[in-house]
Amino acid sequence: MCGIVGYVGNESALDVILSGLKRLEYRGYDSSGVALVNGNMFIEKRVGKISNLEDHLAGKNLGGFHVGIGHTRWATHGVPSDINAHPHTGCHERIAIVHNGIIENYAAIKKMLIDKGHIFSSETDSEVIAHLIEYYIENNSFLDAVLKALAKLEGTYGILAISESEPDTIIAARKGSPLLLGIADDAMILASDASAIIEYTRKVVYLEDGEIIEVKKDKMKTFDLERRRIDKKVEDITWDISDIEKQGFEHFMLKEIFEQPETIQNAYRGRIVIDEGLVRLDGITLSRQDINDVRRVILIACGTSFHAALVGEYLIEEFARIPVEVEYASEFRYRRPILLRGDLIVVISQSGETADTLAALREARDRGANVVGITNVVGSTIARECNAGGVYLHAGPEIGVASTKAFTSQIVVLYLLGIFLARRKGMTADEAGALLRELTKIPDKVQWILDRADAVKEVAELYKDTANCLYLGRGINFPVALEGALKLKEISYVHAEGYPAAEMKHGPIALIDENMPAVFAAPFWDEVYAKVVHNMQEVKARSGKIICIATEGDQEILKHADHVLRIPNIGKMLSPLLSVIPLQLLSYYVAVLRGCNVDQPRNLAKSVTVE
Ligand code: G6P
Repeated sequence: MCGIVGYVGNESALDVILSGLKRLEYRGYDSSGVALVNGNMFIEKRVGKISNLEDHLAGKNLGGFHVGIGHTRWATHGVPSDINAHPHTGCHERIAIVHNGIIENYAAIKKMLIDKGHIFSSETDSEVIAHLIEYYIENNSFLDAVLKALAKLEGTYGILAISESEPDTIIAARKGSPLLLGIADDAMILASDASAIIEYTRKVVYLEDGEIIEVKKDKMKTFDLERRRIDKKVEDITWDISDIEKQGFEHFMLKEIFEQPETIQNAYRGRIVIDEGLVRLDGITLSRQDINDVRRVILIACGTSFHAALVGEYLIEEFARIPVEVEYASEFRYRRPILLRGDLIVVISQSGETADTLAALREARDRGANVVGITNVVGSTIARECNAGGVYLHAGPEIGVASTKAFTSQIVVLYLLGIFLARRKGMTADEAGALLRELTKIPDKVQWILDRADAVKEVAELYKDTANCLYLGRGINFPVALEGALKLKEISYVHAEGYPAAEMKHGPIALIDENMPAVFAAPFWDEVYAKVVHNMQEVKARSGKIICIATEGDQEILKHADHVLRIPNIGKMLSPLLSVIPLQLLSYYVAVLRGCNVDQPRNLAKSVTVE
């Protein structure tokens, strides 16, 4: 995710900001920039590594600037480029801001300001913040201008702002994106993450949502959004740099698993209007007619994204009643696929760079099909090459090689896409609204599972030495079984197979003995549940051990399973978003207990850009 650093003091602001930004590099970024202020404003921003920014700053005499802000960007709106990098300014370089988060109503604000004569230079949502402050500062103090600007913003933000009119001040505000203030001798350092300030001070003030802070080198004042003063407690940082970079988690993969309540929300935030049963996927550039004409959807992907596509098949068919096919990208591209009028191709790729998926996209596009992309990396090749636009996951960089948070975000986007198409095929606003309301309950339910991660760890301890493992599920939880098996083999090198539970009797049942655990995803009560229980009995009859992902309150399951991992109650169509979480945790803990390199498993790459 993006990183923020700001400095007010007696030293060279640039030096402190650059060293802080480098501390934030581990978060992933695509561009960086700084803005420095005294009587004048100096701004430099560059796509690529911080070293590229430094090359462009070399030889400039900037040591006299003692106030400034800096940023590492991970694109969400607009491709990675010099212009889209932060800091952003208004029409004139008198105000500069850096921003983490997403401004959901930026399009409306941008239009309002363009009507008032403002000229925008970037494609970002963030730029509206600088223009709003610029607009209000005409008749207000710097602080009041920022407060008035914040009142207009919907979405999430961590913001630092500087102004030529008050060159000894940084104003910072937080709603949903972390910010903290480090208090050093004769200096104040603001950052999105403590790792950027820890070499200067361990005394910090953590901003809460709805707080704004005015910072000078030797004092700070905190307010709420109504401009009432707030007293803040100064706290001590007690941890080390290495702890903070992974935010206290032992591995990036675990951090990413635990981020899912937030990343799931980011995937639907700003895209749904529950009361109107509306899904807005503004990145899809198809005409109304093209969407009405969709007769078949083909989902194309590799690896974990392929499993998300399999879940998407159930979702889109159920909601929109449009036939869906799911294809491995590597197979699609070589089998002279038959494409028909009314086909909508959807390519799914976390990285947006997977060579097979890209080749399939080109194959479909060159045959005249409409291709929509679902990717996490803004400006990636797949995102750029789709001829019918796409939808970003907004999950933040995924660093662990085994994909976790991207998978759940992909499912959320496919859920939205299913409802989006269904509305054109007769789904009512009330029906869609009910489905969307259910979706908004998911982040809390995922958190509920994460709060019980220790129960998964206990099971992992019992089975860490197993050589084989079978994963079984039915219906929409069959792809979850595939994903659970993939996760285990990717990072712990245990042989694992995913199967539709009923297929077990046609082959895998031969493998079952007392050394072969079977993991079932059986998270709801319906006719398929009873059949899955029957499959469990078949395993038990052959002395197999059963680990079951089951719904809270399901007592029946205790009669059949040796170990039950609970998830909260949820309707069938959203259940994969919950049932996959214990499976991600199980593979993680087994891998750790076996001493494997979780974040960089052998032989695997995060982004496979070769065929
Ligand atoms: C690699 C990664 C997997 C990933 C797959 C597809 O194999 O190791 O984790 O699922 O590529 O990647 P994509 O970026 O296209 O989703």
